Amino acid sequence: MVACVGAACNFERDYEIAQEPLFREIELCVRGSDYGATSWTTRDQAEQAAARLGLERGRRLLELGAGSGWPALFLATLSGCDVVLADLPLSGLRIARERAARDGLDSRCSVLAADGAALPFADRSFERIHHADVLCCMDRKREMLCECRRVARAGARMEFSVISLAREPAGDDERRLLQQSGPPHPDAGVDYAVLLKECRWTLLERIDVTGEFMRCMEVLIQESHARRAALVELLGDEDHAERLERRRCTCAAVERGLLRREIFFAQAAGPAARHGVGLA
Ligand SMILES: C[S@@+](CC[C@H](N)C(=O)[O-])C[C@H]1O[C@@H](n2cnc3c(N)ncnc32)[C@H](O)[C@@H]1O
Repeated sequence: MVACVGAACNFERDYEIAQEPLFREIELCVRGSDYGATSWTTRDQAEQAAARLGLERGRRLLELGAGSGWPALFLATLSGCDVVLADLPLSGLRIARERAARDGLDSRCSVLAADGAALPFADRSFERIHHADVLCCMDRKREMLCECRRVARAGARMEFSVISLAREPAGDDERRLLQQSGPPHPDAGVDYAVLLKECRWTLLERIDVTGEFMRCMEVLIQESHARRAALVELLGDEDHAERLERRRCTCAAVERGLLRREIFFAQAAGPAARHGVGLA
């Protein structure tokens, strides 16, 4: 297995840039959101997550790797639930807090800097957890899933999306292609179903959304071409070309069957889980 294969990210800077109107226009075309998203979660997928997680007024959702608020703030607006947003880049958290205030979510939203693999919460604090393409941006995947389990109540539900290696690269060309693609840590070493079980999560549903991931990237490439001059002015020639090349390589890696994107829906194993999904 290759430990870390994809291109590096600079989320601190990306969250600032993503607030530019030009980027928000593109985001709307690609995902149907305007929060400055860096995951590939579409608006439809966020709505489906709200339904699977049974989000509603009075429930509290922990969003890890929350970035600038997508999709947690959208989920709070949609369902009326409370949200706790945790991530490391302060730029994203600041933008999320400002957006929460603008959207009237101040009293239902808290924001904190925290490492998903070492959470600053007591055991059994949450009944709903969500994260979008976070595990593929970090290497301590098992630690994060175990931390999620520690802070989850028995029977709590968790949903996450993740981009992973669908097969081993065959040779140096494919290894190079993965190095030029995103995200930075797609290799989990074992299947996520195994990791979830080891961390005491019961897998309820596994959904392959690779086709939608590919469609989003194709739209992003098209929209970037259509706005090339404005993007070059904002990012500079080199940065713009590097971003586009990373997307092209990611598309090529998906087409070759090297990368896939999936959604996992799980329930905390424990006394409440024995009776099925509907108890948390
Ligand atoms: C692809 S982005 C998704 C952000 C946001 N949820 C969205 O949909 O736009 C992945 C996020 O995971 C965060 N992340 C990476 N490693 C982390 C860690 N150890 N603890 C918490 N967050 C982490 C990154 O800072 C980044 O904001």
